Amino acid sequence: MQIPDFVKRKKTHAKISCVTCYDYPYAQLLAKTDIDFLLVGDSVAMVVHGHPSTLLADIEMMCLHTSAVARGAGGKFLVTDMPFLEHRKGLSKAVSAAQRLLRAGANAIKIEGAEGNLETIHSLVTAGVPVMGHVGLTPQFVNTFGGFKVQGRESAAAEQIVADAKALEAAGVFAMVAEGVPASLGKLVAESVSVPIIGIGAGVDVDGQVLVLQDMLGLNPKIPRFVRVFADVATTSLDGLHAFDRAVKAGTFPTAAESYT
Ligand code: KIV
Repeated sequence: MQIPDFVKRKKTHAKISCVTCYDYPYAQLLAKTDIDFLLVGDSVAMVVHGHPSTLLADIEMMCLHTSAVARGAGGKFLVTDMPFLEHRKGLSKAVSAAQRLLRAGANAIKIEGAEGNLETIHSLVTAGVPVMGHVGLTPQFVNTFGGFKVQGRESAAAEQIVADAKALEAAGVFAMVAEGVPASLGKLVAESVSVPIIGIGAGVDVDGQVLVLQDMLGLNPKIPRFVRVFADVATTSLDGLHAFDRAVKAGTFPTAAESYT
């Protein structure tokens, strides 16, 4: 999938699939799937590094994981999150951060929120940096929101999210994530703009879906309501780890065939 395909998909009502990816081995696996694009999310700070929020992801962390994913992804379209506040340090710093992410292997960057970002987004887009927007429950605003809470339940907040989506479209984003909003609002946002809305906890009436890889593979014991576990990788991994431990302790691993003569 490439940039022009995003709007084409919306026009033809062909849904778009995405998962997050943070490392080389999973990127290699994902390269063998029809999943349309990968997101090196700043959720890496939580999922991989165990931090309580995404605010701890910095440009070094995002570049490191982006380059690992890019090496394994076999050319699959890659979006990387602009880390918290990196784009709010002035245009020149935002451009440098975008340059580092694209040099690390991203094809596009994602920026959370609309207000205060529109001029930067427009400058990046006109400079050749495709930008994905992100509205609704934008995790970088966790302190403002008072936690990871569904957004847009009140009509004024819902109207603001639709207005943000329209403003981001006008600024030039090629697609947007809509996260943690009522399904009816997800639908309204998708109907309000001509770029695809990739939902996460935004109901089914959007143009595509993204999930955090470790959530949908059962590797996160605490999953939110909107996640479906599509495979229980945790149980399979634990079975294998227990089997290894038993084999070592029973002296049945390695066998002669697993040893050098
Ligand atoms: O960082 C991330 O994983 C994300 C997704 C939840 C959309 O932004």
